[in-house]
Amino acid sequence: MSSDRVIIFDTTLRDGEQSPGISLNTGEKLEIAQQLARLGVDVIEAGFPIASPGDFEAVQAIARQVEGPVIAGLARVHVGDIDAAYGAVRDAERPRIHTFVSTSDIHIQHQLASTREDVKGQARAAVAHARSLVDDVEFSPMDATRSDVEYTAEVVQIALDEGATTINIPDTVGYAMPQEYAAFLGRLYELVPGLRDAVLSVHCHDDLGLAVANSFAGLQAGARQVECAINGIGERAGNASLEEIVMLLHTRAADVAGLHTGVNTREIARTSRLISRLTGYAVQPNKAVVGRNAFAHESGIHQDGVLKERSTYEIMDATTVGLEANSLVLGKHSGRHALKSALEELGYDVSGQTLNTAFKRFKEIADKKKQVTAMDLEALVTDELRDDMRSYTLEWFDVEASTRRPPHATVELRTPDGEVARGDFTGDGPVDAIFRAINAATKREARLREFRIDSVTGGQDALGEASVVLELAGQSAAGQGVSTDIIEAAALAYVRALSNCERRVLAAADTPPVVAAEAELTPTP
Ligand code: KIV
Ligand code: ZN
Repeated sequence: MSSDRVIIFDTTLRDGEQSPGISLNTGEKLEIAQQLARLGVDVIEAGFPIASPGDFEAVQAIARQVEGPVIAGLARVHVGDIDAAYGAVRDAERPRIHTFVSTSDIHIQHQLASTREDVKGQARAAVAHARSLVDDVEFSPMDATRSDVEYTAEVVQIALDEGATTINIPDTVGYAMPQEYAAFLGRLYELVPGLRDAVLSVHCHDDLGLAVANSFAGLQAGARQVECAINGIGERAGNASLEEIVMLLHTRAADVAGLHTGVNTREIARTSRLISRLTGYAVQPNKAVVGRNAFAHESGIHQDGVLKERSTYEIMDATTVGLEANSLVLGKHSGRHALKSALEELGYDVSGQTLNTAFKRFKEIADKKKQVTAMDLEALVTDELRDDMRSYTLEWFDVEASTRRPPHATVELRTPDGEVARGDFTGDGPVDAIFRAINAATKREARLREFRIDSVTGGQDALGEASVVLELAGQSAAGQGVSTDIIEAAALAYVRALSNCERRVLAAADTPPVVAAEAELTPTP
């Protein structure tokens, strides 16, 4: 790899998945990992295998099925964590164990109740153990930017002596400023000359809105790996946004001394939409690169300029990030074969019963909507093809909405055991009534945490896409629904979120107590 090549380490499935309310199942994580591979990231941090059997299973599935990127599993400096990470990633083409321990005095005293000497010993043992299992080991001194740089250098030296191949310097709490972060890395290079033979990595949180700026400063100081997440999701204010750092290097290529990535930028928009759908996390309209308005021009002067010459007010071409992907169009006369090849073009290999389901749904939509575009298909497959065996299905609903009487809804569902369940409710609005009618039919007290309706494309006959996040017995999960009728989309989304919540409640009840207890004793990152 050339010395200017920046390694993109995607942590959407690990740090990103730690965002409040996000909880993805194995199938969803696998789907995201396949898309990340298509996007061309170099490393996928697939999860934290010791955290739960579900995390382990997802990392293992990704390691076994996703080709191309290095697959990393996160581990604290405990033997059990490292063994779990190894067990989960060992079948990958190129496995990596990423182990970490805090080096700031604040963390060492208050969280770990330990000493600097002890932490050094733990780092040494952890990296040595990880290296006995795999060749590719990453070490992170957590909360590095609030740590004493001389002490951090000692720990980094130990990690290198034990064979760490990548050293990552996290700005765990998003406190650093760009020049300060660059100076910290520069000082580490002075104190640990051997660091030049390893890959130096940056991992910046966005608490002060500086995650991308800090990551870029880190690259200018010599780092060649950036840890980032799609749509910038992650713990608290999130991580550096992958699409922003990639497009920064792409757009300013002439001014960044050759720094470049291997990302296929045309896959960015699609990856962003997939993450948003599956996590239930909306992308803010003015979000750089992937926001709905990132390429929209409102002022007359700007519109006039762009019509005359795009570069007057656009520094990037929307097609470069894959935003033109609406050229593929199917209609109500399109057959199964056309649908299958359109889905293949979008990266979905669909056949058998799944293709039948997709085709049935496509026909329903095509009957109501003149043209079904690539964006519609994407919403449809993301939404439809994911239903698994243990799900409720919506059979039908009636809603009476009026300004003179409170709205009333009746729903009929099929339960995961195949029984028919009916419920009704009089609510504050038609959507509220239908949601509560679903609770009544399923006898569940699910609480609505988030609800959103977006249109998939523009135009009067656009598909409505609903996203629901629910909480049930301490577990939360998201669900999506797509229809030309927004009440139906909302009902489908609610039923899916409820099914996902229930699966999660069942899985949590199956978690072996030893893992749960350990996770409580030593908090996860
Ligand atoms: O923010 C952080 O310090 C982390 C580490 C586990 C790398 O996420
Ligand atoms: Zn982090």
